Amino acid sequence: MIRILANDGIEVSAKAMLEDSGYEVVTVKIPQEDLPHYINEFDVLTVRSATKVRKPLIDVMTRTKLIIRGGVGLDNIDVEYAHSKGITVKNTPRSSSLSVAELVFAHLFGGVRFLFDSNRQMAANGISQFNELKKRYSGGTELRGKTLGLFGFGNIGQETAKIALGVGMNVKAFDPFVKEAELKISIGGREVSIVIATCSREEVIQASDFISVHAAGGSEVLTMEDFALMKDGVGIINCARGGVVKENVLMENLNSGKVAFAGIDVFEDEPTRNSLLLMHPKVSLSPHIGASTNEAQERIGQEIVDIISVFEF
Ligand SMILES: NC(=O)c1ccc[n+]([C@@H]2O[C@H](COP(=O)([O-])OP(=O)(O)OC[C@H]3O[C@@H](n4cnc5c(N)ncnc54)[C@H](O)[C@@H]3O)[C@@H](O)[C@H]2O)c1
Repeated sequence: MIRILANDGIEVSAKAMLEDSGYEVVTVKIPQEDLPHYINEFDVLTVRSATKVRKPLIDVMTRTKLIIRGGVGLDNIDVEYAHSKGITVKNTPRSSSLSVAELVFAHLFGGVRFLFDSNRQMAANGISQFNELKKRYSGGTELRGKTLGLFGFGNIGQETAKIALGVGMNVKAFDPFVKEAELKISIGGREVSIVIATCSREEVIQASDFISVHAAGGSEVLTMEDFALMKDGVGIINCARGGVVKENVLMENLNSGKVAFAGIDVFEDEPTRNSLLLMHPKVSLSPHIGASTNEAQERIGQEIVDIISVFEF
C-alpha cells in the first residue's frame, strides 16, 4: 500500500479522497529531529512551511519518491538536491493566489483608514477618548482612482491586479519576465478580459500610491534608493516573503514619514522577534496567513490529491 505522511497536516476532504482511493494517510506530526528515523515508512511526504526537507533528511530517503509542498514557496525544501537523488518535488502554485491577494486588500483597506491602529486604541481608550480618537483617525483616503504598483506579476500579482481593477484603481506592474498578462475578471456573473502590459520598475516606483511586492523571496526587491524615489505617503504591502522589503529600511521610511503605512504578513525571521515593527503604530500585521483560508486549503488539498493520483510509484 502507498503510504503518505502529511507531516504538516492535510485538508480533511483531501485525506478522505486519498483514503477512498486506497492510499494510507498518516497525519501524526513527526518532530523534525525524528523524521530521519521514520521517513522510510512512507512513499510520499507532504509538508506546508513548518517541516524542513534539507539535504540530511533527503540523504536517508530510500523509499520516499515524492515530496509535495502544499502551497507556493519551496524555500523549506532542497529541491535541486532532491531531484538529483531521483525524488520528485511538487508544489501547488495557484491554489492560494486569491487568498493572498485578498489579504493584500485587507491590509490596504485597513491602511488607508488606520484600522490597525484604531482597533488597538479603541480597545484601550475607546470609552474615555472617543472624540480624540475620532479626530486622530479622520482624514483617511479612498482606494478608487489611486495607483497600485505591483512588483512581481505572476500568479498572486495578477490576482491582486484583478481586485484592484474591480475597486477602480489603476494598476502598474513590473516583472522582469512577464511582458503582459490577460486578466479575466468576473463582474456580476459576466467575464471581462483586460490585458495589462508591464512597465519599467522606475515607473512603478514613481507613479504608485501603494506598492505591493509579489516576487519570490531570497533577494531585496525594494531598496533604500527605491524608497527615495517613491511618492511621499506611499503605502507598502509585503505578503510575499520576509526580506523582499528589508525591515530596517521599511522602519526608517515609516519613521521619516515617507511611508504612510505598511501591511506586513511575512517577516525576515519567523517567528519574528522584531518588537519595534510589531508595535509600530503605522504597521498593519498578520502572522503569515496569506494562504490560510478554508478555500485555499481545500484547493491545495485537491491539488495534492491530483498530483498523487497520477504519480507513477
Ligand atoms: N503570504 C503568504 O502566505 C504567501 C502565500 C503564497 C505565496 N506567497 C509568496 O508570494 C510570492 C509570489 O507568489 P506567486 O505565486 O505570485 O509566484 P509567481 O512565481 O507566480 O510570481 C512571481 C513573479 O515575480 C517576478 N519577479 C521575480 N523577481 C522580481 C523582482 N525583483 N521584481 C519584480 N518581479 C520579480 C517573477 O518573474 C514572477 O513572475 C512568493 O514570494 C511566494 O512565496 C506568500
